[in-house]
Amino acid sequence: MRIFPVEYLWDGYVLNNDIYNHTGSVKLLAKGEKIIRTKLDKLLRFSGNDRHIMVYNDTYLDLMSNEHMPLEVRQKITEQYVGYDRLQQDVGSLFNKPDISSRLSCELVEPLAEEITGKVVDFDPLTIFSCISFPRPMDEGLQRHSLNVALLNTMQAEWLGLRGEAVKIYALAGLLHDIGKTMIPEEILFAPRKLTPDEQMIMREHPVYSDCLLKGKFSDEIRLSARQHHEKLDGSGYPDGIQGKEIGMIARVTAISDIYDAMVSARSYKDSRLPLHVLHMFYDGEFDGLDRRLVMIFLKNMRLRYTDHEVVMSDGKKATIRYIPPNDAAHPVIQRGGMVRQSDGEWYCKEMVTLL
Ligand SMILES: [Fe+2]
Repeated sequence: MRIFPVEYLWDGYVLNNDIYNHTGSVKLLAKGEKIIRTKLDKLLRFSGNDRHIMVYNDTYLDLMSNEHMPLEVRQKITEQYVGYDRLQQDVGSLFNKPDISSRLSCELVEPLAEEITGKVVDFDPLTIFSCISFPRPMDEGLQRHSLNVALLNTMQAEWLGLRGEAVKIYALAGLLHDIGKTMIPEEILFAPRKLTPDEQMIMREHPVYSDCLLKGKFSDEIRLSARQHHEKLDGSGYPDGIQGKEIGMIARVTAISDIYDAMVSARSYKDSRLPLHVLHMFYDGEFDGLDRRLVMIFLKNMRLRYTDHEVVMSDGKKATIRYIPPNDAAHPVIQRGGMVRQSDGEWYCKEMVTLL
């Protein structure tokens, strides 16, 4: 059974199974009954006034996939279920500005990295993607982005065949890569517009700040991966303009996670994009200077995870992704009932459906 917040139930929902109070000891309503909030509130007062109930898995899934469930609520519950919301708070408190330097220690950050790698083991990647891909407000930007890059780095490390401690290093590197942004003035960091050239210059210093903050506290490979995550293989990146083999493996992986997360999340000056579109942009080489071999491994694994996944199409109805063409991920082959056809500009995926 699972905990479910009462506030997200609605009048008229017919229960497909019994529901209980938050401890599971008192049956509140029986299978087949219609939810009436006033009645439920009364019952809840008898059982300790808790605002949560216990539901069976089938009820939980039915509630989560119901059209009545607003997208934001579904997201919130998913994040609670994964423990993403709590992790985000922990990352947030680590990044809290005053005194950041004293909080940056292996003893404090490593358990967080361990928890992050644990999430990737415990949860299906799509559930994690749904936490990652949800558009977020600007002020949550840094902590959420760092957590997402840590999760994506963990997945990539596993897809590269790494295990155990080696994976944890990638998680740590993801978590800390943008820590230098805490040294950037907030009016630039959270500017709700494209930055001016001068502001961009200041922003481009953040990998150097990351390097300084991590120096002497974390291993050189983590420190350097933070410094190098905006470098490009052709030497056109920053802050040092290094190229090719000079750029370490962890920085190359972090660069992919960084761009993926930035593209699927909302920014104030552009709309968020559907994950499949972002995958196509990667394939198309829109982000230059990345390690193509790593990009292809990333794309192959992402395509695999999204295959057989439910989506809401542009006509508002659900369907299932059956095949994602490697060279055209934005137009997957879709099945609805007996019909199988490739999506296109007229009939396209509008939203990923998250079922836990
Ligand atoms: Fe960065």
